[in-house]
Amino acid sequence: MTRLRLLVLGAAAGGGYPQWNCRCDVCSLYWAGDPRVRPLTQSSVAVTGDGEHWALLNCSPDVRAQILARTTLQPRRGRRDSPISAVVLTNGDIDHVAGLLSLRESQPYSIYATGATLGAIASNPVFGVVSEAMVPRRRMEIGRPETLPGGIEIEAFPVPGKVPLYQESGEVEIGRETDQTVGLRVSAGGRTFFYVPGCAHVPPSLGGRLKGAPLVLFDGTLYRDEEMIEQGLGSKTGRRMGHISMSGAEGSLAALEGLGIERKIFIHINNTNPVLIEGSPERANVEARGWEVAYDGMEIEP
Ligand code: MLT
Ligand code: MN
Ligand code: ZN
Repeated sequence: MTRLRLLVLGAAAGGGYPQWNCRCDVCSLYWAGDPRVRPLTQSSVAVTGDGEHWALLNCSPDVRAQILARTTLQPRRGRRDSPISAVVLTNGDIDHVAGLLSLRESQPYSIYATGATLGAIASNPVFGVVSEAMVPRRRMEIGRPETLPGGIEIEAFPVPGKVPLYQESGEVEIGRETDQTVGLRVSAGGRTFFYVPGCAHVPPSLGGRLKGAPLVLFDGTLYRDEEMIEQGLGSKTGRRMGHISMSGAEGSLAALEGLGIERKIFIHINNTNPVLIEGSPERANVEARGWEVAYDGMEIEP
């Protein structure tokens, strides 16, 4: 029987929570042993339609720890085996692709990504260790659904974004809708959800697409656009990073309100985001507005 299931492998943004060198207000709680916070690995979700074949939506630098934490993703038979039969990438950011370097030991699976993201990988020779003979690259076209092993259907659609950080040069255009950054519609057994871990803003086209969805996992990077600057961690706003913030008139809480989405979950949460603190006013606010905050090990059946 086909039944769509997903596991949140990593709920944090790039760097994870806490971040290795960070003493921001939120990371400091972790270093002090505060029970209101728990550690999170980097941005990735596993999905299956048959419980046998799993696809990773993004492949974080923490993928090995994520596999160790989930028996369902561990080898089952023979000398070499993995339930992971596909990796689907939503962009070329380090937190979404660096884990491929850990999935390199003579194990067949497929990498699905747009032309832009496959290009980002192909232009970096270190990814050559993931042999194309063993691990074919499959180019996803916008709007053309792909069927993955185990009966999952995936369709990519453009969301406002930017080039990966390591490809930035000169004036960086933020918020273009191209195949650089995509969201995914994932379906199996008559159930569907949307996965949008990076999004600069919500244009009407995206709002329309998500309207009435049973489940949306959405970019929860920052609570406030200037949060990293306020905490003395750098000069970048969320907008400059290509990430919408939760709060504010143009934030995700406002943008996804009134669309009749049944279940909304924030994912890809930055270490500075106060929603990571159980019982914080910001956490209470997002929950009051009908959102959940993802955590590592969260299991969902849409
Ligand atoms: C992002 O989500 O903006 C990126 O993961 C940032 C990064 O590459 O560190
Ligand atoms: Mn990221
Ligand atoms: Zn921090």
